[in-house]
Amino acid sequence: MSQSGGALPDFRRYRRLRQSEGLRRFARETILHPGDFVYPLFVTFGRGVRREVSSMPDVFQLSIDQLEREANVLLDLGIGSVILFGIPEVKDLEASDAYDPDGIVQQAIRELKRIAPNLVVIGDVCCCEYTSHGHCGILDGEIVDNDRTLALLARTAVAQAHAGVDIVAPSDMMDGRVRVIREALDGAGYVNLPILSYSAKYASGFYGPFRDAADSTPEFGDRRSHQMDPANVREAYLEIAADIDEGADAIIVKPAMPYLDVIAGARERFDVPIAAYNVSGEYAMVRAAGRAGWIDERRVTMELLTSIRRAGASQIITYHAKSAAGWLREEYGATLRVRSSPVVGVSQGTPAGGVQSD
Ligand code: PBG
Repeated sequence: MSQSGGALPDFRRYRRLRQSEGLRRFARETILHPGDFVYPLFVTFGRGVRREVSSMPDVFQLSIDQLEREANVLLDLGIGSVILFGIPEVKDLEASDAYDPDGIVQQAIRELKRIAPNLVVIGDVCCCEYTSHGHCGILDGEIVDNDRTLALLARTAVAQAHAGVDIVAPSDMMDGRVRVIREALDGAGYVNLPILSYSAKYASGFYGPFRDAADSTPEFGDRRSHQMDPANVREAYLEIAADIDEGADAIIVKPAMPYLDVIAGARERFDVPIAAYNVSGEYAMVRAAGRAGWIDERRVTMELLTSIRRAGASQIITYHAKSAAGWLREEYGATLRVRSSPVVGVSQGTPAGGVQSD
């Protein structure tokens, strides 16, 4: 050994466990898994539509007929779930398409459950993509009316349930919505349908590109009267506690990177599953800097996703899901693929989601 420590004082050699990739893996505390990624899908009207979102490279608005191909790609990568956002053909003051039995998201849910019954389909429940003014509910002047909006949210959740959704995820930030949604679901016979509540959702500048993708930019004003002030963390714990009390089965902290302290604090205080939403602006920044050659995009992406997991999130909703799943496979091999039973409705050959882990 060249490094003899004879004359040195006693100290601990942390570098021992960092000497090789094998040792680093041995000592690794946090491991990402594609099964923990939730991939957001933007579903739009029309046929044959695959429109890239200008501020989000490789993220597309898809028409219903494009979902089969997309679902098979996701299953093949081992991604466990998707969250759906709809871009309806017609928007109105009551957000009717959100709860129309044949609304865009209801159609997408039915199609995905037909193609890929094992893919967990999450429905985002909010009015902003469906109102003509882009606000999250019924307006009273320029303010969203909390109590009148609750009924629309409940109807939306029940419509998604009828279509076969696996989880509903209210993202509107109206007070009391989890209770109202739980009661409506139970009343309609869906006592077993879980609610994943966006409990700590901040009024964030990082949602900009999403509003291009979902065509949901408010016509005037912003969402500060219902989304949380970025300066607050104790309030996030109150929101989470209230949602759990009202019947949330799991919760979301959103955005992710600027709120790792909120994720970590929530992880210590609450025992429900905690998901983090690595939002559109976080994605756009990394992609833009990567394209400019200013950062190593793969390294930075994996570092960021790992930090979100390390902070305490169990699931990560992220637009990086597909590339990250591909990189994980390169790093750890096919063992990371999830075990799932053969996909119904996929024609010949190996069913896309049927690859067994070894
Ligand atoms: C509301 C909703 C938004 C996002 C998810 N659900 C937009 C908003 O609150 O303005 C943002 C997600 C992202 O930025 O990636 N339906």
